[in-house]
Amino acid sequence: SQVQDMSLVKTAAAKDMAFAFDIDGVLVHGDRLIPEGKRVLEILNGDNELGIKIPHIFLTNGSGKVEEKRCDQLSKILHSPVSTEQFIQSHTPMSALSEYYETVLVVGGENYQCREVAKNYGFKNIVVPNDIVASISTISPLKEFFTAEQRATSTPRDFSKVKIDAILVFSDSRDYATDLQIIMDLLQSENGVLGTYAKDPVSQRIPIYFSQGDMLCPTEHPTPRMSQGTFRIALEAIYKSITGVELERVVYGKPEMATYKYADDVMSSWMETIHNEERLPKNIYMIGDNPASDIVGGNMYGWNTCLVRTGVYQGEGNDDANPANFGVFNNVLDAVQTALRKEL
Ligand code: G3P
Ligand code: MG
Repeated sequence: SQVQDMSLVKTAAAKDMAFAFDIDGVLVHGDRLIPEGKRVLEILNGDNELGIKIPHIFLTNGSGKVEEKRCDQLSKILHSPVSTEQFIQSHTPMSALSEYYETVLVVGGENYQCREVAKNYGFKNIVVPNDIVASISTISPLKEFFTAEQRATSTPRDFSKVKIDAILVFSDSRDYATDLQIIMDLLQSENGVLGTYAKDPVSQRIPIYFSQGDMLCPTEHPTPRMSQGTFRIALEAIYKSITGVELERVVYGKPEMATYKYADDVMSSWMETIHNEERLPKNIYMIGDNPASDIVGGNMYGWNTCLVRTGVYQGEGNDDANPANFGVFNNVLDAVQTALRKEL
C-alpha cells in the first residue's frame, strides 16, 4: 500500500542521515544535563514515528578520562546509553601514535587519569609531570603544593637515563607553571633527555602534540573558561621568545580534518553495529555550540552544520566568521527536529 511504501522510503532516509553531537554546551554543561539533550537521544534511539534508530555519534573536544569511564558518566547524565563505539573525545585518535613513540610525557588532566588513558592506547612507558617533580624536586620553583596524593600516584625514576620520545598534551594543564617549565626543558633538550641541552634547537627537538585547540570551554561558570588552546599559545609564545624559533606542533580535535576523517570511520562502523550496513550515511548533521571548532570543521568537511545557543555561542543571528550552514537554533532539540523534518 501507499502507506507502507511511504514508511519504507522514510526508513531508508532515516538510515541515510546521521548526527554528530558536540557534548559540552550542546548536551551538557560540565556534569549538568541540558534537558533537551535527553529528549533528543530518546528520539534518535527509536522513540520516533518510524520506531527506528537514527545513527549518531559523539564528537567532543573533551578529554582527561578513559573513554569507558566518560561514556558511563555521560550515559547517567543523559539517561541514554552512550557506547564507546560511538564516542570520540579529543585524544581518542591519538591512540595511533602509540605505534611510533615508546616513551611519552603525558600532560594535563588529573595526572593519574591521563596515565590510564595513555596506557589504554598502548603506550609502553608513560611519564607524567608529577613523576618528574617527584624525582627532581628543584625542577619547578613556582610549584606551591605537591600533595600527598600526587606523590603517592607518582613514579620517581632517574630521568637522566630516560629518553622521552614525544610530548602529548591530552587535557587541560592543572599547573601551568610546572607543566610549561617541564615542556620547555624537554623541547630544548637533546632528543628528550632531561638535563641535556640541544646544540640545534630544531633537529634535536622531540615532537609535541595537543589533543585539541579550543580557546574557550563552556562550564558551570556563567561565562566560558579558558581551554587547552590558551595553554598552547602561552607555550608557543614562551618557546619563541626564549629560543628565537617557531614551535612546530600538531593539534588534534575539532576543527582539524584528521578528527573528522576519524569520525567518518567511527560513523560507518556504528552503522554496522546498529543497522548491519557498514557505510557512511549521506546527510550528516553536526550540532555544536562553538563556531570556531564544531562549525568551521563541519563546514569544511561538507557536513550540515547547526549552531546552538546553549554554550559558547550566545549571539542573535548566525556567527559572522563561521556561519552554520543549516542554521542557528535555541537548543539541540530544535536543531534535531528541524533536520528530521527536512530529511524524513
Ligand atoms: O573545550 C573543551 C571541551 O570541553 C569542549 O568539549 O564537547 O564542546 O567539544 P565539546
Ligand atoms: Mg561544545
